[in-house]
Amino acid sequence: MIPSRKGSTASTKQPAKPSLEDNLGPEVDELLLLESGQPDGSKAEIIYRNGGPVAAADLEQLCTKVGWPARPLAKVEAALRNSFMVSSLVLRVSLPDPAAPPPTGPEQPPAPLLVSEQLIGLARATSDHAFNATIWDVLVDPEYQGQGLGKALVEQMVRSLLRKDISNITLFADSKVVDFYKQMGFEADPEGIKGMFWYPRF
Ligand SMILES: CC(C)(COP(=O)(O)OP(=O)(O)OC[C@H]1O[C@@H](n2cnc3c(N)ncnc32)[C@H](O)[C@@H]1OP(=O)(O)O)[C@@H](O)C(=O)NCCC(=O)NCCS
Repeated sequence: MIPSRKGSTASTKQPAKPSLEDNLGPEVDELLLLESGQPDGSKAEIIYRNGGPVAAADLEQLCTKVGWPARPLAKVEAALRNSFMVSSLVLRVSLPDPAAPPPTGPEQPPAPLLVSEQLIGLARATSDHAFNATIWDVLVDPEYQGQGLGKALVEQMVRSLLRKDISNITLFADSKVVDFYKQMGFEADPEGIKGMFWYPRF
């Protein structure tokens, strides 16, 4: 949860650490996070994407990879469709098309590329569209973890919510990822607020 800013104390002398609220900037549909190229002209890019369709089956495949239990595809599809915001990490690979004729001169346009995309991370948020949003299903493909992508995903989603003037942002953290969220400014039980749960008893 990102609580409202508290007043700074007089004894605080350290310069304020930049926070997610600072320099929000304009909304972007896509943001290039990582890029690598090969001498053969192929290129791999990892892109943060705000919105756009995500296939329920691709999300479930990712869930399986991180060890989460399977969910009914129709419900996952409904959850994606009804989410206020769906942000994804996409691996986009571009390869020169081997079927394309080779360029005949320096003035020739560059050879066309074959482009494939793979979902490697996702976060989605539900919201009342005014005050509150709750972030769900934060995950990064294990093959791509540990490169700052999960942090970039959550930070960009928080920034997108703040740009929409939604500043009461909550999530439910597994105990093993509490520190992951803490370093982005999320607090457990701010001002004594406790998450409470109701489950069916059958
Ligand atoms: C949690 C998860 C999204 C993190 O993604 P990631 O891309 O590996 O994380 P990042 O590389 O962006 O890590 C950013 C920072 O958080 C730290 N971090 C990552 N996972 C952490 C964890 N489980 N606990 C504490 N810190 C963690 C990293 O060390 C890094 O710290 P640094 O900036 O000081 O180097 C990913 O591990 C994942 O998908 N886990 C399985 C699904 C899951 O548990 N999701 C959370 C549901 S509540």
